[in-house]
Amino acid sequence: MQKIIVIDFGGQYNQLIARRVRECQVYCEITSWRTPLDKILAEKPMGIILTGGPSSVYEEGAATCGRELFEAGIPVLGLCYGAQLMMQVLGGKVERATNREYGKTRTVFDTRSALFAGLPESSIVWMSHFDYISRMAEGFTSVAHTDNCPVAAAECVEKKLYLIQFHPEVLHTEYGRQMLDHFVKDICGCDGDWRMDAFVQNQIRVLRERIGDGRVLCALSGGVDSSVAAVLLSRAVGKQLTCVFVDHGLLRKNEGDEVEAVFGPNGPYELNFIRVNAAQRYYDKLAGVSEPERKRKIIGEEFIRIFEEEARKIGAVDFLVQGTIYPDVVESGLGGESAVIKSHHNVGGLPEHVDFKEIIEPLRDLFKDEVRKVGLELGIPEVLVFRQPFPGPGLGIRIIGDVTAEKVRIVQDADAIYREEIAKAAEAWKRENGIGGGTGLTENATPQERYDYAVRQNPAWMPDQYFAALTNMRSVGVMGDERTYDYAVALRAVRTVDFMTAEAADIPWEVLQRVMSRIINEVRGVNRIMYDLTSKPPGTIEME
Ligand code: XMP
Repeated sequence: MQKIIVIDFGGQYNQLIARRVRECQVYCEITSWRTPLDKILAEKPMGIILTGGPSSVYEEGAATCGRELFEAGIPVLGLCYGAQLMMQVLGGKVERATNREYGKTRTVFDTRSALFAGLPESSIVWMSHFDYISRMAEGFTSVAHTDNCPVAAAECVEKKLYLIQFHPEVLHTEYGRQMLDHFVKDICGCDGDWRMDAFVQNQIRVLRERIGDGRVLCALSGGVDSSVAAVLLSRAVGKQLTCVFVDHGLLRKNEGDEVEAVFGPNGPYELNFIRVNAAQRYYDKLAGVSEPERKRKIIGEEFIRIFEEEARKIGAVDFLVQGTIYPDVVESGLGGESAVIKSHHNVGGLPEHVDFKEIIEPLRDLFKDEVRKVGLELGIPEVLVFRQPFPGPGLGIRIIGDVTAEKVRIVQDADAIYREEIAKAAEAWKRENGIGGGTGLTENATPQERYDYAVRQNPAWMPDQYFAALTNMRSVGVMGDERTYDYAVALRAVRTVDFMTAEAADIPWEVLQRVMSRIINEVRGVNRIMYDLTSKPPGTIEME
């Protein structure tokens, strides 16, 4: 398979670069700048992209690379820090400017460059740099500039070296996607052979070969990753796969049944499905516990115990499935430069007392959007494929304070109303804007078309994650002629790209009003609704 390698110098958009390249249907991987060059070349990349980074190239100890990288005959594109590094290493000069160039910036392009061919001569790009290229290395020509930056892009066609000072991977750069497409296809010569239907066929073949007649065990949460992994495996080895679904009583309304409807004996897939209804067991363990970390720990540990109990009943298995995806690989420091491990996301971790020989991670190379596309290729219902992120500890961390069955009911009902109203408002927006309803999807739409419809064509206010939470606060209200003393529900809705930072979403007032009045009228035990305006940081997305 044709491959591009992204060398990570620690910049904030590095995963985004890789995702954008893959959107051009070209496979790419991220590797740290510390990886030796011969190892990179052994991968036979069609091209190399150098990312941005937090330091200055002239600082002592700054991330760097050798000259040989640029002499290997492979096309190289340096972005931001990567652009400056290329210049510095090849004998150009990088200096600190008096003013930082930051934000949307009008830029003039030489459209004779293969990077910008066919694009407008002037457009908006996203700049974020203090240092600038004050002198280019020999053999380079400037092919873009702004008022403040004489070298916004440059090239040495003969050596297939290209550099861009701004960030084509960021959506604010109007034609960024096309520029990357030009690099990977026209300059590196990639055909665009990375496609999800091919991935599915290939994975099924590889999994069959690897598993043979072995037995496979998978913990199914109903989340996107584990659902897609499970279906992929069921396609590959059918009933050799057993999925254990632990319903901890902290799922959203009807979710347990929805998961069972898809994966259970009446669903379309052939696999062994075990649902464990453990709600009461969890409520007993959680009774009276209000400290968030303690709650998380109890929920995680209980999951492991139940999973182990079920596994014991099944006996020895050969393979255990994990829903690891590519950002997990990069973030755990195995791929790229950043070593941030979101430990709290691996609740549970690996069970210690399950008898298995090997771990299978069929989604290890995929970004989240690719996992969703694979899900659609596999025919998984859209409610599961486009499910919002839902934390492992579930509603347990959306109920501030101690958890009871009664509080779970309140959050489930309030949350269901909230989701229903947002979905209705989004559909209404689509109708008003002529999307869908005849102009949208036909029944024969391809997975890619269905993906685009679901993801791209939403109102601007559409949150990336939204849910109701139960504050532990009760307050006085009136209902009819009676005084009430009931709970306050908090509505959360955030816009985010990577879930590391987030802003409160700007949901239309009338939608919020409708949600408020329905929850108050329909959910017993609630007499007040609040909207959480906090961004992350300082808040987190979840409440605990
Ligand atoms: P926070 O609350 O840390 O959440 O801002 C960021 C994203 O991660 C999800 N989240 C979790 N996911 N197990 C998970 O699988 C967890 O324990 C967990 N805690 C938070 C959260 O829903 C948001 O999308």
